[in-house]
Amino acid sequence: MNAQYSEKVMDHFMNPRNVGEIPDADGVGSVGNPVCGDIMKMYIKVKDGVIEDAKFKTFGCGAAIATSSMATELIKGKTIDEALKLTNAAVAEALGGLPRVKMHCSVLAEEAVQMAIDDYLKKTTGKGLEIKHHEHEEAHKC
Ligand code: FES
Repeated sequence: MNAQYSEKVMDHFMNPRNVGEIPDADGVGSVGNPVCGDIMKMYIKVKDGVIEDAKFKTFGCGAAIATSSMATELIKGKTIDEALKLTNAAVAEALGGLPRVKMHCSVLAEEAVQMAIDDYLKKTTGKGLEIKHHEHEEAHKC
């Protein structure tokens, strides 16, 4: 369909994994890109410090859908600490790369994971993360 996207990106866009909600989620994170208006919502289920399940809903571009799909795949089975290390670059790499102009879309996936974990930590420990949002100019460009 589009030569600038890898096969993996197209696969995760056309057949996204883990779409939906987790009604009794332990953490829910919601992020939006103010420039394009795209929104991503991430749900996680945690047991003994391990992410047992993750689901997402993304109202956004193809790259945002593909990166949220891949992000849920990558964090499932990981500990909270491991999942916190997931970067947007790692998500993009797992997808076989993204066009440069679409890298900012992967930032939403990284931030949605962090927000869901932040919510989980606030609920369980009363203290969330000190979230540093991406400040580089690429983050909120569409
Ligand atoms: S996240 Fe807005 S264009 Fe991709």
